[in-house]
Amino acid sequence: MRWDPGQYLRYGDERARPFHELVQRAAVALADRDKPPASIVDLGCGPGDQTVTLLDRWPDADILGVDNSPEMIDKAQDYAVEGRCRFVVGDIATWSSDQPVDLIVANAAFHWVPGHVDLLAGFAGALTTGGVLAFQVPDNFSEPSHVLLRDLRLSPRWRDQLADGADRTAGVERPARYLDALVDAGLEPDVWQTEYLHVLPGDNAVLEWVKGTALRPVLSLLSDPADRDAFLEEYAEQLRQAYPRQAYGTPFPFRRTFAVGRRTSS
Ligand SMILES: C[S@@+](CC[C@H](N)C(=O)[O-])C[C@H]1O[C@@H](n2cnc3c(N)ncnc32)[C@H](O)[C@@H]1O
Repeated sequence: MRWDPGQYLRYGDERARPFHELVQRAAVALADRDKPPASIVDLGCGPGDQTVTLLDRWPDADILGVDNSPEMIDKAQDYAVEGRCRFVVGDIATWSSDQPVDLIVANAAFHWVPGHVDLLAGFAGALTTGGVLAFQVPDNFSEPSHVLLRDLRLSPRWRDQLADGADRTAGVERPARYLDALVDAGLEPDVWQTEYLHVLPGDNAVLEWVKGTALRPVLSLLSDPADRDAFLEEYAEQLRQAYPRQAYGTPFPFRRTFAVGRRTSS
């Protein structure tokens, strides 16, 4: 599956907000340390525009962004800062570090990695004492944007092409499960949810949003452009009904789960 950094960044402000709110709480968890974090890793860093903002908060840190999409890492090179912030292609599922890390951030990334809950203990083990793991995953898979997409994929017209390999919902857990996993990994937990009510501008606003993420695995299975157009047209019509456009824009509820864990002992 290929990512399109341009489409993803179309709603950059809305997508950036949870990153900054996550990092804000990570900073609180790090505040007891006598030194600011010296090493930070951003797993599933995407196009790097948010990763580089970590330098504003912690200008002396060494920052590494990791993503398994060559397209995203290509884009992220625009934000590289020599000796301070670099980006590499790599897989979250197999990532490990030679040196203990002070802060691991993963914003809107773990839900793309099957079995990610089982990886949390390994990430906790990669932290320094007082180090922090901070991640955020969407919890909107029961919302119309996803339900309509799934129903359409599985409808008689599309199921032969789209029944398998396009579902992104399997990996997300309830907040309590993340809390338990952080505790089991020896971390002091801080878990919460926020429901944003984004107001998206433009025509077919929700379709344009979903094109940046959940639609990508679906469209990548449709090689014929005519099929893609037909699928998009059908889905767009359903989205327009589910999310009516108002004079001020299209309201789009989006619930997200945040989890921050601090390693308190070595
Ligand atoms: C929704 S984007 C989030 C990007 C960025 N963290 C942000 O908040 O804007 C999800 C990112 O996770 C990356 N990703 C998905 N599975 C991955 C994996 N197994 N290893 C590394 N990166 C992965 C994708 O390539 C994509 O860039």
